[in-house]
Amino acid sequence: MKIACIGAGYVGGPTMAMVALKCPEIEVVVVDINEERIKAWNSEKLPIYEPGLFEVVKECRGRNLFFSTDTKKHVGEADIVFVSVNTPTKTHGIGAGRAADLTYWEGAARLIASVSTSSKIVVEKSTVPVKTAEAIGKVLKRNCQDPNVNFEILSNPEFLAEGTAMEDLKHPDRVLIGGADTESGQKAIRTLAEVYAHWIPRERILTANLWSAELAKLTANAFLAQRISSVNAISALCEATGADVSQVAHAIGTDSRIGPKFLNASVGFGGSCFQKDILNLCYVCESVGLKEVADYWLQVVSMNDYQKQRFVERVIGAMFNTVSGKKIAVYGFAFKKDTGDTRETPAIDVCKGLIRDGAKCCIFDPEVKAEQIFRDLSAPKFEWDRPNYSRSQSHMLENVQVQSDPIAAADGAHAICVLTEWDEFKHYDYAALYEKMVKPAFIFDGRNILDHAKLREIGFIVYALGKPLDPFLVKGY
Ligand code: NAD
Ligand code: UGA
Repeated sequence: MKIACIGAGYVGGPTMAMVALKCPEIEVVVVDINEERIKAWNSEKLPIYEPGLFEVVKECRGRNLFFSTDTKKHVGEADIVFVSVNTPTKTHGIGAGRAADLTYWEGAARLIASVSTSSKIVVEKSTVPVKTAEAIGKVLKRNCQDPNVNFEILSNPEFLAEGTAMEDLKHPDRVLIGGADTESGQKAIRTLAEVYAHWIPRERILTANLWSAELAKLTANAFLAQRISSVNAISALCEATGADVSQVAHAIGTDSRIGPKFLNASVGFGGSCFQKDILNLCYVCESVGLKEVADYWLQVVSMNDYQKQRFVERVIGAMFNTVSGKKIAVYGFAFKKDTGDTRETPAIDVCKGLIRDGAKCCIFDPEVKAEQIFRDLSAPKFEWDRPNYSRSQSHMLENVQVQSDPIAAADGAHAICVLTEWDEFKHYDYAALYEKMVKPAFIFDGRNILDHAKLREIGFIVYALGKPLDPFLVKGY
């Protein structure tokens, strides 16, 4: 059997590496239009950082795992074609700012149709609006020259989270496969299930109809993001009342019906999918006349924007209502720890908010390159999800400096803002940093990861999100 995957990104790369590792008899080829990316997959420095990924790629690459730009050849030869391309939010035209842009998906489908001389299972790995399989089916059927070629479309959404992708792929809570309720649809489901059954217990391989599988992916992300917006809404109330959001989260999380995960208040959720998928879900709802349902889910995104804005206002308010000309050290730019990914990171909006008020941001992140930070801070909304984005120009920005050393970033700063929960931030010598900073020296912990009592002992004025406010901060208003 041969598997091809179109799209060598955060999903296509790690997912196919795991398939290759667990299914040594299957040839797996990941193809992409981005030559640089493919070159990096074939090098010692992979294009994405994911713990454990390099080891797996190293073991399989050249054995039964290949990365190539020869899309036509490998897709043409494959029995199963996964499609894991970008499905960004539309930026113009009907549905701009909400609907998923299926340009890249359709492009992939046209390509599959044009090179196919044998029947194939086409697997939707990208996150797509409900009913995409129907549209893609038409594109495939009408563009294939050979009338004997049959395409069976399956929805097999990916639930991995970045930073833990390899663990998630090795031990997923479930794998979901949706297919048509026909004999050939069910056969295709069984074929794909066989692949996963190499390492995943059968009871964890769930099957469904196509539309349920497509909708389940959007719903899962909406529910996860909703928990974060819910706890973030409560974090604002905690600050106003003297309650402590960690204590509230712990108290509710011990209720087995609620559960303890995804209850960390933060400066806001980021990442490539939560916002995009909720907007996509809302657009689907609106399209079928369910405005109230769309409004309900849209509030999850609005609350997230509010949280980022609220954080910026706290910083500026605490610093005597002016950050003009003040150096602020920003610790963390990635959207979460253990990844170099900055897509929709809350750090973008927070830094932009501070810069708008005249602050000079000095950014340090252990994994994110300066070039990426400058690109993110100058790009229009949603631009990051275009295949060319990583190759687009990166401009230096006034009032933004990127430091490769956390001590230098804090030197002469009035404040430190912690925006990513990198473990190393917990272990810095804050007493030494304090000495180098302008007084009063502030720490704004947007992730609640630092030892606040210790920081206060050193002399810092501390703002910890969702915690009782420092009297100095209250007076500062
Ligand atoms: P990505 O941008 O990292 O990768 C997509 C790749 O597809 C890019 O390298 C791009 O060059 C390539 N591509 C686009 N059009 C192509 C074409 N016609 N032919 C060949 N290559 C093409 O994106 P990603 O994070 O891997 O996400 C891919 C999909 O998976 C999205 O729909 C996303 O919503 C979904 N998803 C992402 C995650 C995640 O954690 N990142 C998790 C689950 C699902
Ligand atoms: C998320 C989902 O967890 C995956 O299941 C899904 O496959 C993926 O989106 C996707 O479709 O792209 P990911 O975005 O990689 O994965 O990372 P998460 O761990 O979900 O974190 C998302 C954001 O929420 C991060 O900014 C994180 O810091 C934030 N977060 C998470 C909180 O603020 N509080 C929490 O309690 C948990």
